[in-house]
Amino acid sequence: MEDLSGKQLGIYRIVAPLGEGGMAAVYKAYQPGMDRYVALKILPRHFASDPQFVARFKQEAQVLAKLQHPHILPVFDFGEAEGYTYIVMPFIESGTLIDLLKGQPLPLQKIRRIVSQLGDALDYAHSRGLVHRDVKPSNVLLDERGNCLLTDFGLAKIVEGSMNLTTSGAVLGTPAYMSPEQGLGQTPDGRSDIYSLGVILYEMATGRAPFKAETPMAVVIKHIHDPLPMPSTINPKLPDSIERVILKAMSKESADRYATAVEMVKAIQAAIPEGMEEATLSGDAVTAVAASTQTTASPSRSMRSILWRSSLGWSIAIVIGLIFAGANQVLGGIVLGALGGVTVGMVWRWIDPTLSRKRRFLLIGFWALAGLITSAGGWGILIGPGVGGFLTSQLLCRAERAMTRWQMLWITLGWVLSWFVTALLIAGGVAAGQFVGGVMVLCALPLGGGLGSWIMFHQYFSARVIKEKA
Ligand SMILES: Nc1ncnc2c1ncn2[C@@H]1O[C@H](COP(=O)(O)OP(=O)(O)OP(=O)(O)O)[C@@H](O)[C@H]1O
Ligand SMILES: [Mg+2]
Repeated sequence: MEDLSGKQLGIYRIVAPLGEGGMAAVYKAYQPGMDRYVALKILPRHFASDPQFVARFKQEAQVLAKLQHPHILPVFDFGEAEGYTYIVMPFIESGTLIDLLKGQPLPLQKIRRIVSQLGDALDYAHSRGLVHRDVKPSNVLLDERGNCLLTDFGLAKIVEGSMNLTTSGAVLGTPAYMSPEQGLGQTPDGRSDIYSLGVILYEMATGRAPFKAETPMAVVIKHIHDPLPMPSTINPKLPDSIERVILKAMSKESADRYATAVEMVKAIQAAIPEGMEEATLSGDAVTAVAASTQTTASPSRSMRSILWRSSLGWSIAIVIGLIFAGANQVLGGIVLGALGGVTVGMVWRWIDPTLSRKRRFLLIGFWALAGLITSAGGWGILIGPGVGGFLTSQLLCRAERAMTRWQMLWITLGWVLSWFVTALLIAGGVAAGQFVGGVMVLCALPLGGGLGSWIMFHQYFSARVIKEKA
């Protein structure tokens, strides 16, 4: 857009440009009646020539003008003049959140304050049925005391429907902060804003945005499909409690995120208690890790805890399965498999909270099928776990994409092998009878599932490390 400095728009005299975004330019302007500077957000000319747009713009601006919250930048006025449509807001000189994000993690208390203020502002708007749709650092102005003022509320929606915009090919919003559902063109709800706030939190905690790519479209696709690079691999000093908030807020499926922004605020406040020591997150350690391109991307969960969690889950599954098998062998097999699937899903989700609900249901289905096959006895005892392991590795492969055919084979064989050992122990136990047999059966129960899961997740981590190296 041409430089409008010096022009008079209605009662406002334009002083100087402040910046330009994807769909508008922002100017500093003077309002003589009030003797004050204001910020004018001026939309490109072609918008004003579309009467439908102007009507919708007015309607929405009136809704926005009613938002009253200490962390939402108020709308003073809006109007049309000289063929331009504009919004008038307070002029905030001190900058935006972009100025704070300089490739280094922020101090914890600052993170706590920013997420709390933005979350509170979002919750207020969401409870009134308004979705921001473009939460990102350039839309967070900071006053001179460092308080946040969220701006451009709902503007993306106002502009979205304009035919002119689509034909002019302008990009709406910034892909770097866009939720998967927004990227897919679905109508976003409040949880989409929560995702974007999660991305901001990710950036504040690690010093960099989660997904980078050559083109904006490629970034959108990464948000939709790629597993989130673990924040702790970029910033090893990041407390687990904060990482968990990021992972939940940035779940691919909106149903897995915080249901409300206030919940996210509560979670971050619990993760960073007031007065918690300013852990020095910034500094050489982070740079060093970032520089080494994360070849050290070690599993964020230890293999030992994966083993015992899996063993415990599978033991419960097998005990309950055996009880059902007493009534009906097939039913017992299905129950055992399904509960095993629940276990695998829980452990996987514990490792990677972004695991979608759909995948977890698929896991239960796969293993129920495996259980059904196992219940047939004979070769079924080996084929069943093989099928479960193979299908699970397919799922892992899709989630990680870096998994090789060999790793998939390994996982399948791992399950077959561990189950074979289990079956032998149980058979031996039953034959040995009484005490020794009882002990053997009890030992066998956690072994199969634990071992199988262990082999599987070990391969999963190797795939991740290889991928991150690449
Ligand atoms: N009220 C304001 N006071 C002072 N400066 C502002 C104000 N609002 C916006 N700015 C500045 O103007 C710049 C451009 O804002 P604008 O909203 O047009 O673009 P953006 O937020 O970067 O992208 P998008 O168009 O996607 O929202 C901002 O980055 C900010 O620096
Ligand atoms: Mg903006």
